Amino acid sequence: MKIDVILGLQWGDEGKGKIVDFLATRYDIVARFQGGPNAGHTLKFDGKKYVLHTIPSGIFRESLINLIGNGVVIDPITLVKELKSVEDAGVEYRHRLLISRKAHLILPTHRYLDLASESAKGKEKIGSTLKGIGPTYMDKTGRNGLRFGDIQSPNFLQKYEALKAKHLTLLNLYPEVAFDLEQEEARWMACVESLRELQQVDGEYYLNQALDSGKRVLAEGAQGAMLDIDFGTYPYVTSSNTVTAGVCSGLGVAPQRIGEVIGIAKAYCTRVGAGPFPTEQDNETGEFLRKEGGEFGATTGRPRRCGWLDVPQLRYTIMLNGVTQIALTKIDVLNSLAEVPYAVNYRVDGVETGQVPYDLCDTDVAPAYETAPGWQQSLDGITDYEKMPAEARHYIGLLETALGVRISIISTGPERQELVLR
Ligand code: GDP
Ligand code: IMO
Ligand code: MG
Repeated sequence: MKIDVILGLQWGDEGKGKIVDFLATRYDIVARFQGGPNAGHTLKFDGKKYVLHTIPSGIFRESLINLIGNGVVIDPITLVKELKSVEDAGVEYRHRLLISRKAHLILPTHRYLDLASESAKGKEKIGSTLKGIGPTYMDKTGRNGLRFGDIQSPNFLQKYEALKAKHLTLLNLYPEVAFDLEQEEARWMACVESLRELQQVDGEYYLNQALDSGKRVLAEGAQGAMLDIDFGTYPYVTSSNTVTAGVCSGLGVAPQRIGEVIGIAKAYCTRVGAGPFPTEQDNETGEFLRKEGGEFGATTGRPRRCGWLDVPQLRYTIMLNGVTQIALTKIDVLNSLAEVPYAVNYRVDGVETGQVPYDLCDTDVAPAYETAPGWQQSLDGITDYEKMPAEARHYIGLLETALGVRISIISTGPERQELVLR
């Protein structure tokens, strides 16, 4: 069997959680391949809302196995909190949640370092979620990290103390920030203790054997391709590979195992944190999109920056990910518009281009917009593509032509069932 992939094509928060939760019933296993508690994936069903940070978005589907892959970084404190919320929702997860031994651990001092490093950057700060993501991946690639499997090791505490000591030395490089290390450490240790009972696996063997025996697997990405450490708007990015290649390294599956790649894109664009955003509407229009779309961070509560859909940006991330189909989300947010703008090209130094420049941070990009007629009606209750307003179908058709990929899923609201499948 092949492994299908769902990932974000913009700057995160495209609605991955909702789409994974919906599609999960078609699979046996959902596996997260990168990121950590910087992610906030929202699921809504039966009038209730859940936000997942580390746990895969298949957890609410009965009998489905959920794997936290080696590419993920885990904060025991967040994970314990999430497990509690899942348990409170009446979900039995113990036999359905597996954790790769090779996933790295976020220590309290990783969060401390994240905070100190961001504070020291002042106006240049990335706008990190302050969950310790950057410092943890730095220790992973720097070969200093602690892994989930280490919590079973007899010298776990020794390893912990050695890494913490390194961090405390590093912290001397930065101006002081307020962080109650003693308290955070006590919480962290207690949470590590309670995570010992979770099922640890060698995720790479587990998944390859599952695929060989005919199991259907869906890989769930966090963040979005424009936040990828290599291809995003560096340095305003996260610290992992959010693109399809990250599935191979973050789960231990070979490239020829990759099947469908479902890229998720909002019908407009958002970004939270600092960094370039060519189609940003830092004005009343952006305000309108934020309000209509409820664009506030699922992890940090920060208002998201809003702007128009950006074709050159999407073509870039479709190329990087080998996207085979698109799920277009939040189209309902545009319901009241008389005209729907979208950027078709960039103008750089007076020259029109469809290519994303080397350094968006240092390049003046003026997007060239076109508009599609709006549909100006509610999409509530529509699940059949043919019943969608003609203007909405026209808009979707324009995007498919511009992007060169079929839009197979259209999301018309936050609830699980608010979808049009083609
Ligand atoms: P993720 O990080 O990609 O999973 O996305 P988030 O959960 O951070 O943000 C997406 C937000 O949009 C959440 O509040 C969802 O409940 C909501 N949402 C998802 N799909 C739709 C949709 O089609 N329409 C509307 N109005 N809201 C949606
Ligand atoms: P989901 O999975 C949106 C952004 C942060 C910041 C930058 C680096 O919900 O789509 P980090 O904490 O990773 O060091 O922050 O990346 N960011 C996200 N933005 N959605 C996310 O995840 C994000 N995860 C990180 O705001 O700009
Ligand atoms: Mg999110």
